[in-house]
Amino acid sequence: MAIENALERFPRDVKTKAGLTVRLQPLTKTDHAAFHEFFSAMQPKELMYLKHRVTDPEVLRKWCENIDLGHNCPLLAWHDGKVVGVCTLHQALGGWKRHIGRLSAHVRPDFRNQGIARLLTGEVVEIARQCGLERLLAEFLGEQEQAMKVCALQGFEELYRLDDFVKDMQAISHNYVVMGLHLITDEEYAGMG
Ligand SMILES: CC(C)(COP(=O)(O)OP(=O)(O)OC[C@H]1O[C@@H](n2cnc3c(N)ncnc32)[C@H](O)[C@@H]1OP(=O)(O)O)[C@@H](O)C(=O)NCCC(=O)NCCS
Repeated sequence: MAIENALERFPRDVKTKAGLTVRLQPLTKTDHAAFHEFFSAMQPKELMYLKHRVTDPEVLRKWCENIDLGHNCPLLAWHDGKVVGVCTLHQALGGWKRHIGRLSAHVRPDFRNQGIARLLTGEVVEIARQCGLERLLAEFLGEQEQAMKVCALQGFEELYRLDDFVKDMQAISHNYVVMGLHLITDEEYAGMG
């Protein structure tokens, strides 16, 4: 299924486990200021795996001008006019990793522990499944235990852990952890009857 079809169920208002209502919607052209404000609320270390300098408003403006949801699909959670969380599905769209997606999630510090990441990751796993991806990966610093827990709740398992493998902005080494989820595609479900 094309990503556009997988996204047909959005925008949608959903309640988190803690009872907070959020609107789920893929990134749109007009979201750059709100998205910049969201990333500005994060600690730099928490943005380490993002490949762009998301604290620069110009970077976010360009992102929003050139949205390619088939390649990078950020699903945003909105509350009270603010972006409070994002979970992005990254796809390679060709090559030997074309069946493997990557997921990353971030929640505004003042909106954590209310079930936003759990909700967003569940939705993105479903989008990945509908796109026909077979596997999902997620990368972490060794100390991002909370984020690993969020992925474990979706069925992700640790694939490998490399000690002192990555470095943060202060050149301090951290363990690198990769978790993976084997998705069952629609075709496989059909064959199970
Ligand atoms: C990791 C992160 C996305 C979690 O967001 P969140 O919205 O607070 O997470 P949720 O409220 O959905 O919590 C989901 C689960 O995580 C675990 N969890 C959440 N907060 C926790 C805490 N403070 N301590 C222990 N476990 C916790 C729980 O198992 C929880 O499920 P439960 O409430 O049913 O027990 C958020 O802390 C974040 O943005 N961190 C910085 C960025 C990052 O590390 N991203 C990961 C890179 S992929």
